[in-house]
Amino acid sequence: MMMRARIVGTGSTTPKRILTNKELETIVDTSDEWITRRTGIKERRISSNEQREDTSEMATGASLRALDMAGLLPEALDMIIVGTVTPDRQFPSVACLVQKELNASRAVAFDVSAGCSGFLYALSVADNAIATGCCKNVLAVGAERLSSVANWEDRTTCVLLGDGAGAVVLSPSTDADGILSTHLGSDGTLWDLLYSSDGSSKVPEILDTVEEKPFHLKMEGNRLFKKAVSCLAEIAASALNHHGLSCEDVRLMVPHQANLRIIQAVAERLHIPMERVYTNIQKYGNTSSASIPIALDEANREGLLKPGDYVLLVTFGAGLTWGAAVVKWSI
Ligand code: ACO
Repeated sequence: MMMRARIVGTGSTTPKRILTNKELETIVDTSDEWITRRTGIKERRISSNEQREDTSEMATGASLRALDMAGLLPEALDMIIVGTVTPDRQFPSVACLVQKELNASRAVAFDVSAGCSGFLYALSVADNAIATGCCKNVLAVGAERLSSVANWEDRTTCVLLGDGAGAVVLSPSTDADGILSTHLGSDGTLWDLLYSSDGSSKVPEILDTVEEKPFHLKMEGNRLFKKAVSCLAEIAASALNHHGLSCEDVRLMVPHQANLRIIQAVAERLHIPMERVYTNIQKYGNTSSASIPIALDEANREGLLKPGDYVLLVTFGAGLTWGAAVVKWSI
């Protein structure tokens, strides 16, 4: 029989250090007023090595919380998938480092790279692994240390970014609840709207042209903004249509937290009132792959979700990539 994957635990962790808009005013030529009005962000979390807040350490913290809620021991995991664009190292994967920390010896572990959509891509792989019967318990994580790829001299991007991790544990269900479907999209022709300037395996032809500076994020904000709104609205609408659901059926939309204005524009196009849209961008900024699982965990722990509620997850990011998932809540 075809299984359905259901979320049985959520967890998240964010660094201790809070970087406010006011503090950013001392780093780049910006203002609290500009950042708040154009993005909705008031502060973000910045990780530190002393606090053991590497991408893999944050991913492990979020995973332990999700496992605790699920009531499962790490040995029960068959698969660990981490969505990230800021792994501790090029290799091994963050997922393998999480496996080591958890001592989840039975699990297969690997990362997926899909820009800010990394968590939804991971969720989709996890869902399929359970649906086909290949796995029973799967950990899907989104974890990022974007502060490590921010250009702290570029006010158009550094004010947007933050660090953190979120995770969900998925187990099989034969009931009608769980992940109803996932929908993914990509368009590599627009890769240059958002990319990392270097840090790749591409060997430069003349070695002495290699820049001394660490690589950083580059973004064409205006074009990305418009593309984000149209992709998010289209894939969310088609995901709902797939199940014959209307906007009234959605108890909560949990979108990728890139910009409050993007979220508001998407909600307006879908006719979902902002009271039924979860936002925490005010506190964390854009944490890329981590933003949806952090938001989902906070919404869950705040008691905003009840069994049977329809939850709409929707994301967009570098690649370009985008995606949506319709979940019938089951915790
Ligand atoms: N502080 C003060 N002024 C600023 C800042 C800043 N931090 N940044 C830009 N400005 C200035 C610009 O220089 C420009 O000045 P000018 O008019 O004199 O030329 C003015 O503000 C307007 O700049 P815009 O770029 O037009 O501002 P916009 O309203 O488009 O907001 C933003 C910029 C926030 C980046 C927006 O375009 C955006 O959110 N884009 C999408 C981001 C996104 O979705 N990313 C995808 C995922 S991110 C990821 O994957 C990591």
